Amino acid sequence: MKTWPEQFLAAAAAMLVLTGCNKPAAGPDASADIIKVGEFASLTGSEATFGQSSHHGTQLAVDQLNAAGGVLGKKIQLLTEDNQSQAGQSATVVRKLISSDGVVAILGEVASSRSLEAAPICQQNKVPMISPSSTNPKVTETGDYIFRVCFIDPFQGTVMANFAGKRLQLKNVAILTDVKSDYSVGLTKFFKEGFLAAGGKIAVEQNYSGGDKDFNAQLTAIKAANPDGLFVPGYYTEVGLIALQAKQLNLAFPMFGGDGWESSSLVPIGGAALEGDYFSTHFSPQDTTPAVQAFAKDFLAKFHEPSDAMAALGYDSLMLLADAIKRAGTTEGTKVREALAATKDFHGATGNITIDPARNASKPAVILTITNGGFQYIETVAP
Ligand code: PHE
Repeated sequence: MKTWPEQFLAAAAAMLVLTGCNKPAAGPDASADIIKVGEFASLTGSEATFGQSSHHGTQLAVDQLNAAGGVLGKKIQLLTEDNQSQAGQSATVVRKLISSDGVVAILGEVASSRSLEAAPICQQNKVPMISPSSTNPKVTETGDYIFRVCFIDPFQGTVMANFAGKRLQLKNVAILTDVKSDYSVGLTKFFKEGFLAAGGKIAVEQNYSGGDKDFNAQLTAIKAANPDGLFVPGYYTEVGLIALQAKQLNLAFPMFGGDGWESSSLVPIGGAALEGDYFSTHFSPQDTTPAVQAFAKDFLAKFHEPSDAMAALGYDSLMLLADAIKRAGTTEGTKVREALAATKDFHGATGNITIDPARNASKPAVILTITNGGFQYIETVAP
């Protein structure tokens, strides 16, 4: 039998271990007057504009919140890690943000495949993660700590299928898919389901891998199938090159795609070859809603560049997190998770956000066209 002091010590030791275990996210500065938020982004590499835009939007939200006194009386500190647009890097930097930096939440990523790398790590550590703009359904299916502030691709795919069939009157389209990208593979699937269900036909399907530069073989096969349109659910670097090479091969039908087209680098890469093409996305700075206009104005003033979907969604991801922390009254992961899940009618720069039971946001899509080297708003499609 243990003597009294031994029993006491054992109980005290057990309590210490327990308290330690209850605070896995508490880093070295947990007692300081700051709230550490981690962000992982493609600040460099093939999708650099995605990460930079999203980061700028997030930074704007941090600056505005801190200027207004912070959250729960504490300043927000944003710790941003670059994954260089490379596979494997997101897992590494997110592990570091959680275990060495002790962040209370993770924001990221734009590209679905990179969000999918980080999500299981956040879930395992019970650190809430909010993806600003990853649209593949699997991201939030990872677990109950994973959220997003944007719509998902079953919706986006249907929007573009309807647009192609009804507005563009296309009947027989080709599809060119990036098989390395969860986003591209998913959007192809959902577009195809919608287009076939509405009576359309798929003339031919071709594949590429993100990073490819030569699409002549695929485009030649597409030309031979004689479609009346080409759906390319890819990212801007490849989309720009595909448009250029399609023009060189005299492919005379419209090209269209999803939010992955949106980049200030798209037109510099694809040039005039993109004129008259279309894509769906989350936000247009031409939208006259007051919240959109206020965000667009503040963003322009701070960064001297126009805002885009990734910027607005990055902004909303941080604002939504701050709102959840305020409602939770704590930065403790389980409580912040509950508050995030309970989000209703939050007024964001990308519209009103209600988190549904699957931790996604149901929001309208906008369709843009490329005219005179710029993006022109066509229409908004409600869910
Ligand atoms: N939705 C894309 C994905 O899931 C990323 C993206 C969002 C790109 C918004 C541009 C604009 O991979």
